[in-house]
Amino acid sequence: MKIIGILGSPRKNGNSAILLDEALKGAASSGASTEVIYLNDLTIAPCQHCDYCLKEGTCRQEDDMQMIYNKLDNTDAIILASPIHFGGLTAQAKLMIDRFQAIWARKYRLKIPGHPKNGLLILVGGRQKEDFSGAISTVKAFFPALDIKLEEMLLYPGFDEAGAIRNKPEALREAFLAGKRLAETSEQPR
Ligand SMILES: Cc1cc2nc3c(=O)[nH]c(=O)nc-3n(C[C@H](O)[C@H](O)[C@H](O)COP(=O)(O)O)c2cc1C
Repeated sequence: MKIIGILGSPRKNGNSAILLDEALKGAASSGASTEVIYLNDLTIAPCQHCDYCLKEGTCRQEDDMQMIYNKLDNTDAIILASPIHFGGLTAQAKLMIDRFQAIWARKYRLKIPGHPKNGLLILVGGRQKEDFSGAISTVKAFFPALDIKLEEMLLYPGFDEAGAIRNKPEALREAFLAGKRLAETSEQPR
């Protein structure tokens, strides 16, 4: 069973990265093979709304999204971990999500079925009272296009400095256990 973690933060030592790492360790403890996609390291152009995908079911832009389409097609579960930037997901995460219009087109226009996957969402905000609803509504629009069932959400307001989440061991434990549960619920063969 394969679980892919996707990091929306530009900070590889940041709070989302730490929580993602814990969740993937939890998944690995239940036998999953794991991998991280660092979006900030990749070249992903914005969706051009050219509608090529509505006919072809693929995106004509040749960049690192082609690798992501392939990897996500071959995984059993995903963990998306991102900070909140101005009330929503980061630009890095949103660039990727908009390019999944191609997979939306496959499913809803071309009626090509995908395969079901499970998902875990981890969000971190610096503000004590961040409500996360902007980011959550984007994810709730995105996950169904990829047949991802949102199993669980972990929301952490009030963590700003890179690594501040380490001061809250309960959060690290919670992420570890959520990753473990994700692996266990994704165990059944496709
Ligand atoms: C451009 C930018 C915008 C941000 N906007 C918000 C925001 O709207 N709400 C919030 O709670 N935190 C906001 N933050 C703070 C981050 O969410 C916070 O520092 C978080 O811990 C970063 O996660 P990371 O360490 O995984 O990168 C913003 C940070 C940046 C750099």
